[in-house]
This record gives sequence, structure tokens and C-alpha cells, in this order.
Amino acid sequence: MKFFIDTANLEQIKEAQDLGILDGVTTNPSLMAKEGISGKEAILNHYKTICEIADGDISAEVLSTTYEEMIKEGEELAALHPNIVVKIPMIKDGVKALKYFSNKGIKTNCTLIFSAGQALLAAKAGATYVSPFLGRLDDISVDGMNLIEEIRIIFDNYMFDTEILAASIRSPMHIINCAKIGADVVTSPLASILNLLKHPLTDSGLAQFVADAKKMD
Ligand code: E4P
Repeated sequence: MKFFIDTANLEQIKEAQDLGILDGVTTNPSLMAKEGISGKEAILNHYKTICEIADGDISAEVLSTTYEEMIKEGEELAALHPNIVVKIPMIKDGVKALKYFSNKGIKTNCTLIFSAGQALLAAKAGATYVSPFLGRLDDISVDGMNLIEEIRIIFDNYMFDTEILAASIRSPMHIINCAKIGADVVTSPLASILNLLKHPLTDSGLAQFVADAKKMD
């Protein structure tokens, strides 16, 4: 399973990259705004900087919602760096844009996926990734993990190349359950990735080993 970090924060991207487990980065307009990035030039420069820091696929989301505008914007984003993946919303014009970019060999990530039918349409249109939003479904008392399972079954039935990129991750348990189901990728905040490290028996075991090692000095 690939690990992407879900942030536009450069320090956190560096930290995950340094850990040696990072396969890519996802961003969205809200995450960019959180970092105070605004204006076209600043946005494009920020994506370039992320591409210099992190290896792997870097999702850059279009801000427009019409087919023509998404094509123009997506081509501009894709031209920034070979690792850029154009992130397109799951709307009717978005499906058409996915097909356009797929025909041109430009990678895409279809975002705001909340149903198996949406994922199926995006895969049919040739999306490289679909992003089902687990946490936001859980937030409204709908089982987000069930959606990952449904999409896994459908994609396996027809051997779609489209990868399931589990998004809106809220906890290390989301990551573990995605791995059990067979999501291809999880994109997670740094905190949930680092929480995978933690176990009290590791801490107490290490404390004992360190104490005993001192006795051998
Ligand atoms: C990633 O591609 C999504 O934009 C992101 O995971 C959404 O997460 P949120 O529901 O925590 O905003």
C-alpha cells in the first residue's frame, strides 16, 4: 500500500519524506488556503516546491468546475512537473475532463467520491486514482470503510487499473483497515501516520533495554 501525505504544509511533507515511507502528496484548495497560499503564481510555485521536496505523485486540484476551464487549468498544472497528478472533482464535466487527460496520458485523481457508482464512472473515464472520502462519510454516520470495500470488489471484478486512494483519513485505524481491505493508497495527515508508530509496550520495552544496557557499560 502506498502512503501519501494529505497536506500542503512543507515542514510536514519534509518530515514524512525524511521518514522514508512517502510515496506522494495530496492537496486540496482548503489545505492550500490553510497554508496562506493565494494567487495563481503563489499556488503554482507552491506545487513546484512540493515536487522538489517529495518523491512520487503530487495531486494538484483544479479550482474551476467547467470542462473547458478544467482542461486549461489541468494542462497548466501538469506542465509544472512530471510528478503532478491533476485532481478533478466528481461532476459531469469532471468525468469528461478525466477522459480528456487519460487520452493525453496525463495522470488524474478524481476527488470527492462518496459512492461506488461515482468510483465506477471515474474508472471508466480512465482516472489514475479515485479518492473516496472515508472520514467525511463517517462524520455523517455512514460507514466509509464499506465504500472502500465496494470499490475494491468492483475494480477487481473488471481489473480496472484505477487505484483506490483512500482519503479523508482521521485515525491510524482508518489506515490499518484500508490496508486490510486492499486500498492501493492512503492519503493521511502526518499525525495519523506517526500514530502508527506508537505502542506502550514498545516504550516500556525500550526503556528496560536502555536501562539494562547501562549496566553493561
Ligand atoms: C484528499 O485528497 C482530500 O482532499 C482530503 O483527504 C479531504 O480530507 P478532509 O475530509 O479531512 O478534509
